[in-house]
Amino acid sequence: MFKSVVTTALSALLLICTPALAAEPIVIKFSHVVAEDTPKGRGAQLFKELVEQRLGDKVKVEVYPNSTLFGDADELQALRDGKVQMLAPSLSKFDAYTKQLQVFDLPFLFDDLEAVKRFQKREKSRELLRSMASHDIYGLAYWNNGMKQLSATRALKAPADAKGLNFRIQPSPVLEAQFAQLGATGSKMAFSETLAALQKGTVQGAENPWSNLASQKLDSVQPFITETNHGSLNYMLISNSKFWISIPYQVRTQLEAIIEEVSFKVNQDAEELNRKSREQLVAAGRAQIITLTHEQREAWREAMRPVWQRFEAEIGADVLRAAQTVNRR
Ligand code: LMR
Repeated sequence: MFKSVVTTALSALLLICTPALAAEPIVIKFSHVVAEDTPKGRGAQLFKELVEQRLGDKVKVEVYPNSTLFGDADELQALRDGKVQMLAPSLSKFDAYTKQLQVFDLPFLFDDLEAVKRFQKREKSRELLRSMASHDIYGLAYWNNGMKQLSATRALKAPADAKGLNFRIQPSPVLEAQFAQLGATGSKMAFSETLAALQKGTVQGAENPWSNLASQKLDSVQPFITETNHGSLNYMLISNSKFWISIPYQVRTQLEAIIEEVSFKVNQDAEELNRKSREQLVAAGRAQIITLTHEQREAWREAMRPVWQRFEAEIGADVLRAAQTVNRR
């Protein structure tokens, strides 16, 4: 009798506890378009590791690199539809949702990555994280890759050398205008299609930081890389607003603390990773790396700079002014 009462009580207890114990962890699918050994690829992996160490029973992170789940053409829509929960697209890919982020594409606006990072800490940049809220896009942090270099099938020393070439670009009107300034064209194309388009000759040039040049082996089809440092490639780590807000407060706070930690690490290590990628490309010896004198670089700056004025109204004079104050010249 006593045994059956105890058994019944235990079963009842188990029934009460089981749903809590068996509560399914929240799944965060993190999709991205680059290789694993890049600033973004490493950041995604570190995020997964820290979440599983600290919140393993509550949150599970699945990382899909190299456009294996979604690519440039559909990843933002997939996030808005709840098919993925995290992305880190380049700031050049948000044109359909906000014009203000175009500030990051303006050529020669930031002297170096340190200047970009200073701007990202300013209030104006923090506001831009929320600029796409009405589209369900919730900005969590800025991640950086590095300064972009021009590559091509011919040596680009002076701006006139780019005339007539077709460059693969990210879907940014600023980048399109930047190449138009040189008498060249820009073809908007998904990152995953870049190598094939260069192989086929549909495009003859591109702009990338060292890490993407090396990890995509673009030096196999681009015999010349000019170290222009003319712009930077930066990302916004984003989630779907409704999804993010639906995460229980305590878990969300812990996730946000992890994001802060990971973002610091990504942004601290990005330059070093790009330096190593540059060394790899030099060691491979497939592409000639052209360094510019101060005067040569100034000529590129002069050629591209008129783009700023054309986009000032769309970006907002206040945002542009704030960005212009971060260089240490
Ligand atoms: C590109 O399309 O060139 C980049 O945005 C790819 C990336 O995510 O680094």
